Amino acid sequence: MTKPVILTGVRANNDLHIGNYFGAILPIVDMARRRSAEYIVNLFIPDLHSFTTPINHDQLFDSIMNNARVYAAAGLPLDDDAIQLYRQSYVSAHSELTIILNNFVGFGEMERMTQFKDKSAKLSNDRVSVGLFDYPVLMASDILLYNAMYIPVGDDQTQHLEITRDIAERMNHKFGELFTVPEPVAKQHQFFGKDQGLRIKDLQNPAKKMSKSDETGKGVIFLSDAPEVARKKIMSAATDSVGKVNYDKAAQPGISNLLEILTLVRQANGRAVSLKQTIDEFTGLERYGDFKKIVADEMSEFLANFQARLAQVNDDTILRKLESSEITANQTANQTLLRVQKAVGLRR
Ligand code: TYM
Repeated sequence: MTKPVILTGVRANNDLHIGNYFGAILPIVDMARRRSAEYIVNLFIPDLHSFTTPINHDQLFDSIMNNARVYAAAGLPLDDDAIQLYRQSYVSAHSELTIILNNFVGFGEMERMTQFKDKSAKLSNDRVSVGLFDYPVLMASDILLYNAMYIPVGDDQTQHLEITRDIAERMNHKFGELFTVPEPVAKQHQFFGKDQGLRIKDLQNPAKKMSKSDETGKGVIFLSDAPEVARKKIMSAATDSVGKVNYDKAAQPGISNLLEILTLVRQANGRAVSLKQTIDEFTGLERYGDFKKIVADEMSEFLANFQARLAQVNDDTILRKLESSEITANQTANQTLLRVQKAVGLRR
């Protein structure tokens, strides 16, 4: 019997930040290590998703490689054959399936996607691309080509998972069993437990998530930030007028975010502390400056160690892993694509 498939991807625009790292990459790497005996784990770099919002194309190729290097520096075992690491654009079936599925998805459905609404609201009308609009269909293709059951993503992606399920069910209903329908979101949460749903907030505006598309970068700590730069960003993080450290996401979102970040970087620095232990340790502390300094010290230690590990990653090893995974990925994806091509009448 073939093993069930877990699949996920992190885009490669600009620099990756600590929200991507602690919210997605690190949990993905931990999950891959734990599950690869019983599951096939497909990690891919959605490079075709990169230009749904404007980017610097001169940097894209390197960002893609950097994304793969970050997985390696985060501890992904590249020698495990049950774990695949590939680039979306090296498997052309993603694009072909998207073109086919586009014809079975309604304009209205796509228009209701909150991520599209949010992102397009920030751009003038003629800069809102068809690519941005079509993003969820490409994402559905990414998932359906590999018969994936479990897709660990943050909850900003819930709607995209739901539309993927809708598309799969719709196609199966019309053409017979074409696709594996991924598990419903509630089941995904059960399966991944606490790995999912963690949301690191912007340091300047803790009401919104830390995001690559942030314009100023002041509230975002990039994995490539020099420790001193990260220190300044933490020292100037927005707090509140309560004046006492307390974990209260509604009344003190900035301080609560810093408590979460502190826990994560301490763990990454090898100290086994839980969020609760960190909260207990700092609750009631009156000087925010002292508290921020502790967060900044831990962050500097984390960044210095991480950047040293990243510098040691060997590009030849990465390329060999990508290229061998891409052979396997093409085989699986092309089988699914052929099934669809036959069903819709393009092939006998
Ligand atoms: P992307 O690159 O925008 O986000 C990658 C993952 O990172 C999570 N994330 C965060 N988690 C915690 N705190 C933050 N501040 C934070 N910012 C981002 C996101 O929830 C996501 O899980 N559409 C996908 C990429 C994709 C994909 C796929 C994923 C394309 N095709 C197929 C799975 C399956 C995305 O949001 O990428």
